[in-house]
Amino acid sequence: MVSSMFMRAIVQFLSLQLLFIRYTLSVRPIEVKGSEFINSASKDRFHIVGVAYQPGGSSGYDGKSGNDPLSDSSVCLRDAALMQRLGINAIRVYNVNPSANHDMCASIFNAVGIYMIVDVNSPLDGESLSRVDPNSTYTADYLNRIFGVVEAFKGYPNTLGFFGGNEVINDMSNIKIIPPYIRAVTRDLKQYIAKHSTRPIPVGYSAADVRPILFSTWEYFQCAIDGDANDPTRSDFFGLNSYSWCGSDATFQSSTYADLVQRFSNTSNPVFFSEYGCNKQSPRPFNEVQALYGPDMTGVFSGGLVYEYSEEPSNYGLVNINSDGSVRLLQDYDNLQQQYNKLNITLLTSGDPGDAAVTPPKCDASLIDSPDFYSKFDIPDIPSGGQQLIDNGVKNPNQGKLIPVTDTKVTQKVEGSNGLVINGLAIQPLPDDQSNTPSGKNTSGEATGTSTAGNPKSTKKGAGSRDELTWIMLGTFVGSALVWGL
Ligand SMILES: *[C@@H]1O[C@H](CO)[C@@H](O)[C@H](O)[C@H]1NC(C)=O
Ligand SMILES: *[C@@H]1O[C@H](CO)[C@@H](O)[C@H](O)[C@H]1NC(C)=O
Ligand SMILES: *[C@@H]1O[C@H](CO)[C@@H](O)[C@H](O)[C@H]1NC(C)=O
Ligand SMILES: *[C@@H]1O[C@H](CO)[C@@H](O)[C@H](O)[C@H]1NC(C)=O
Repeated sequence: MVSSMFMRAIVQFLSLQLLFIRYTLSVRPIEVKGSEFINSASKDRFHIVGVAYQPGGSSGYDGKSGNDPLSDSSVCLRDAALMQRLGINAIRVYNVNPSANHDMCASIFNAVGIYMIVDVNSPLDGESLSRVDPNSTYTADYLNRIFGVVEAFKGYPNTLGFFGGNEVINDMSNIKIIPPYIRAVTRDLKQYIAKHSTRPIPVGYSAADVRPILFSTWEYFQCAIDGDANDPTRSDFFGLNSYSWCGSDATFQSSTYADLVQRFSNTSNPVFFSEYGCNKQSPRPFNEVQALYGPDMTGVFSGGLVYEYSEEPSNYGLVNINSDGSVRLLQDYDNLQQQYNKLNITLLTSGDPGDAAVTPPKCDASLIDSPDFYSKFDIPDIPSGGQQLIDNGVKNPNQGKLIPVTDTKVTQKVEGSNGLVINGLAIQPLPDDQSNTPSGKNTSGEATGTSTAGNPKSTKKGAGSRDELTWIMLGTFVGSALVWGL
């Protein structure tokens, strides 16, 4: 009797593990090889097909409530379902609270094959470097904050990377002092990750598109001091916030994308748009998507992130989020989805071995061609108390980890751009190690206005994972029945 109960407990425990295993399987971490992002398991090239995700703008993270865009799982479920349907494989989140619990949101995005790129800074006091006086704000307290963000996100396999800075260099006044501080912060983050993470997580910079200094900025961060490719002060990737392609008349040439490709053609680290999507024409046609993911650019660029998921006062949204949590898709969402659906996925996963082998240039003042741009590579020492944080880790770290995702159905009301309610909206967990791709059709939910609730349309991939889940559940029942019969 005792042994049978014991057996039953063991089998039920194992069954539960099996039942949930589908959802705790994970995307494979992305790594940097030369100028490409690579899937660490398949070794396929990875292009970022992403959107910026910061509902509520910078107030989406406030010090008081402690909330941030990845702390409310029902909101993440709603948005992950809409993003999966849109066809993206990555989000960028600008302001996070290192103490919040992100496990369910990170696990939901993981389940649908969406990676996260997280900015370590925030606009709150003491949580970013001052552009006018970096030295006074580069402190152990500041490092404690950004290392806390690393602790919070290092455990998720779908953490693609960290931005150590966003547009810190944004005009001609700060090019004289800021650059070495960005390299210092990059170094500190990389050393912290090397000591406290089980895998390398890339650290990079997101640059403003100020052309007279753009290429100096890129050279300053991509080069290796003394030519040492393992120099920790070097950026692992370079993001560019660029709005130079505007409207349906723009072309590869007129948008200056051709110039960017030419100048970045010998980059030694991955270059991508960390923001794009000019809104001078509304709704946005997103014609630049065909250029960015087409043969003219994929050899040099690693994709980009559309600014931005939610409609905010600046009018860059793909969807409108109402105060009751309901969502209405905007025409921009449909236009972007249609552009993604035309992409050649084979092209996006084919790499060039030459790109993966490229070595960084040796840092030298001659790389920096903008007058007044800081051109020495004397990187500031870590501030007092900082090295202890790296050696011992931050105190009481909040370390995120994947957890089972059990709810898949979106509960909030979602309307298409035509005003009809989208029924049956749900996330479709993908098989292990797959990232999300534009599907050519909606992964779930149709804005038909008729009730199809509970019977969402699924893609081939979604269907496969559902079958797998059914078999696991069947196995669980059979297993349990056998034990109950003992
Ligand atoms: C930066 O601040 C530290 C600590 O206050 C000080 O020791 C150092 O001299 C300062 N460096 C510069 C370049 O101002
Ligand atoms: C990269 O190309 C630029 C011209 O676009 C050239 O000035 C520079 O020297 C090249 N850098 C390397 C490391 O080959
Ligand atoms: C997609 O890209 C692959 C790899 O470059 C190429 O061989 C194929 O012809 C492309 N397909 C289309 C429809 O353009
Ligand atoms: C996907 O959904 C959008 C918005 O409801 C709709 O306009 C579009 O026709 C749908 N596409 C397909 C292929 O069903």
